[in-house]
Amino acid sequence: MSEKKLQHIAIIMDGNGRWAKERGLPHLKGHREGAEAVRRVVEMSKEYGIKYLTLYAFSTENWKRDKEEVDGLMDLLLEFLGTQLEVLQKNNVSLKAIGRLKELPEEVYEALMQVIEETAENTDGTLVFALNYGGRAEIVDAARKLSEDVKAGKIDSKSIDEAMFSRYLYAPEIPDPDLMIRTSGELRLSNFLLWELSYSELYVTDVYWPDFGKEDFSKAIDCYYRRDRRYGGRK
Ligand code: IPE
Ligand code: IPE
Ligand code: MG
Repeated sequence: MSEKKLQHIAIIMDGNGRWAKERGLPHLKGHREGAEAVRRVVEMSKEYGIKYLTLYAFSTENWKRDKEEVDGLMDLLLEFLGTQLEVLQKNNVSLKAIGRLKELPEEVYEALMQVIEETAENTDGTLVFALNYGGRAEIVDAARKLSEDVKAGKIDSKSIDEAMFSRYLYAPEIPDPDLMIRTSGELRLSNFLLWELSYSELYVTDVYWPDFGKEDFSKAIDCYYRRDRRYGGRK
């Protein structure tokens, strides 16, 4: 196992609300600045040669927020998809999405699918948006699909192991994250990639997501390279 190779970074982009609150601004202004930080991190990942970047953009629990905030986030997402296509093409990066995507507003779903299709052949990197994503929902969805295949006689339940189960997750072709970054200080997973983060290195910074920049990104990466990944073994 090549322990130190950093090919996949996953980020819980948290703190947009607090960023706005501290400035006496509406939440949505924080989200708008957060979208700028997304643009920056996509570019930085490309510079650092990170092959996969997964961004937690909207959780299955985020529907609990006010309609105004949810609608604002969906509008921002639409806007982002509209402007990001060109950037992704220019950088030869493909877009993927994980989550219960069909439950997103129809126009968001359509725009998402369009960018995914148009960038599908790009090979320099993959940006993964976690949208209406929940780690438990992902495991439940995998269990459902798997049990259908068992029922249909396609697989024998005795042959189910971890490798087979993970093939039923949302993006089985993507390796597990090596590094998970959470901004704005909270020490929890908030239902993010529960299966995939089993052996990821965790890095939490107090910086709010809209302020997350090059220095913070490179600090997280340096920290990753100082970690000793043992995977339960002994060296
Ligand atoms: C993260 O920022 C973005 C989303 C959840 C969409 P928050 O909006 O959660 O920011 P805080 O936690 O209120 O500061
Ligand atoms: C996690 O942040 C979800 C996203 C960043 C999209 P939350 O702000 O929703 O998480 P909690 O509520 O602090 O756990
Ligand atoms: Mg939050």
